[in-house]
Parts: sequence; structure tokens; C-alpha cells
Amino acid sequence: MSRISYVNGMYCDHKDSLVHIEDRGYQFADGVYEVFGVINKKIIDYHGHINRLYRSLEEIRLKSPISKSSYLYHIQRLIFKNRIVDGLIYLQITRGVASRDFKFPKNCKPSLVITAKNLLTNEYENSFKKGIKVKTVKDLRWKRVDIKTINLLAPVLAKQDAADSKCQESWLIDEDGFVTEGSSSTAWILKKNTLYTTPLSNSILNGITRKSLIKGLKKNKLKFIEKKFNIKDIKYADEAFITSATQYVMPVVRVDNFKIGNGKIGKYADIFRKAYMEAIQLT
Ligand code: PDD
Repeated sequence: MSRISYVNGMYCDHKDSLVHIEDRGYQFADGVYEVFGVINKKIIDYHGHINRLYRSLEEIRLKSPISKSSYLYHIQRLIFKNRIVDGLIYLQITRGVASRDFKFPKNCKPSLVITAKNLLTNEYENSFKKGIKVKTVKDLRWKRVDIKTINLLAPVLAKQDAADSKCQESWLIDEDGFVTEGSSSTAWILKKNTLYTTPLSNSILNGITRKSLIKGLKKNKLKFIEKKFNIKDIKYADEAFITSATQYVMPVVRVDNFKIGNGKIGKYADIFRKAYMEAIQLT
């Protein structure tokens, strides 16, 4: 079965799906995106993601090319057409195609691309059981990473740096030595039965998985604080985690040369994952 993608109003064979060479996404990274997780054919926290997409669009002064309800329609069509059971939806909007000029082009139609992909649940389960390894690197990103833009060169380099050290994620360290977040995930540590994550600001993305996990923690009366943490805190952490639309809640067992806890996933991994799964909304 060939994959089907949505490109500017049309459903196309994925391998023949094209955008123009002068698309502003390609030339300037002038666009925003969202990643939605899919579990059992249902979209996880659809409204949270679509609201964040609208916020990102507003921040870069770009009008949505289609109505809010049309996004849901096209995403659900792609889940169906691609027979996605567990997987992800990638959605990207750029300012469109125009002769290269930094200023916003006049009368330019935004480009909208949506793709769908199946993910193997046993791969996720295997990673969850083992836990992942993290490498810390400098946070070299721009100052508005609260906007989910396609300008991802710094995270690409950070993730590759991690991969070169046989790690699955990088944690980004700001100028004061604190972790902002992962290159494509939210970062958490657990100390004395309390979970810590960085407070919201322009220096991190407001993770939708983060939000649902917090909802689940509150419901289950699990202790949690929004507070910055640094390498020293990581060194003495009992457990650590990342969260994202595709990794859900994923335990971290090593950061640089430090084992977290005893180097195996801790007792809270299942508890937090369960709290998250109970808190999500499926559409
Ligand atoms: N990334 N922080 C960053 C920098 C991210 O790129 C992501 C998600 C998150 C977690 O956000 P959420 O829980 O809403 O997925 C935090 C996606 C998955 C990606 O770029 O592929």
C-alpha cells in the first residue's frame, strides 16, 4: 500500500508529493508545524495541538490557510487512507511560494502539508523498558522557541551530537547552566518523590504531553514542581524522563556519564505513564 499525503488541497501519493523550490519554508524556515500522536486510530490531545498551532501562526503573523474544522477532517482522512493504528501526523504550514525576499510577500498563499506515519508500538515498549540515554549540549536556539517553527537547525545538530554519542536525546543547557528542554521533547527529573520540569517561558515549547502529564499528576496527587534544574540536580536525581507527542512518557537512565538512580528505569516510570494515559483526550 502506498502512503498518501495531503499537499495544498490534494491527497497525493507520498513519493510524488512536492512543494516548489521557492517555498519560504525551504528558503527561510518561514513556517510552523505540529506533531500529533495517534493511538488506536485516534488523535491524542487534538485540541491542545491545534490551539498551539493557531498560536504559532499568530506569532509569525500567518493566517491559517483552511478553517479550524478542516484540519480535523484532513487528519482523520489521512489516518484512514494510510491505515494508521499507532503513529503520528506531521502538519506544516509555510508562508508559501514567492520570489526570494525577506519581507512578507503580498498575495501569497500559505503552503499546507500533512503526512501520516505508522509507528511500531513494540519499538516504543522496548525503549520504555530499557530507558533512553541523554547527552547534554549547549542550547544554541533562537529566543522564541515557544513558537513551534520549522527553524530546527540547532535541534538537528543537538540530536546528531547525541546520536554520535549513542544517546537517543539531547538536553539543552542555557547560559546559566540550566536545562531548558530536550531537542524535541520536554525534560523532567524526579528527586525525593517530586517531579521537576522547567517553568514555561519563551525559552521552551509549551508541550502538550507536558500539559496532560501535569493534569494526570494532579489527579493522582503526585508531587510536582515547575522549577529549573541543572547538571548537579541531574547527578543526584532518582529518576528522569522525557515527554513528547511521539515518546509519551519515556524514562531516562543515563545523562552524560551519570547513571540515573541505579541505571535502570525506576518505580515511577509506569506510574507517570499511566497518569498521562488517563489524562489524554482522544479524538
Ligand atoms: N517535538 N520541546 C521541543 C523542543 C519539541 O520539539 C517538542 C516536540 C516538545 C514536546 O512537545 P509535545 O509534548 O507537544 O510533543 C518539547 C515534536 C514531537 C517533534 O518536533 O517531532
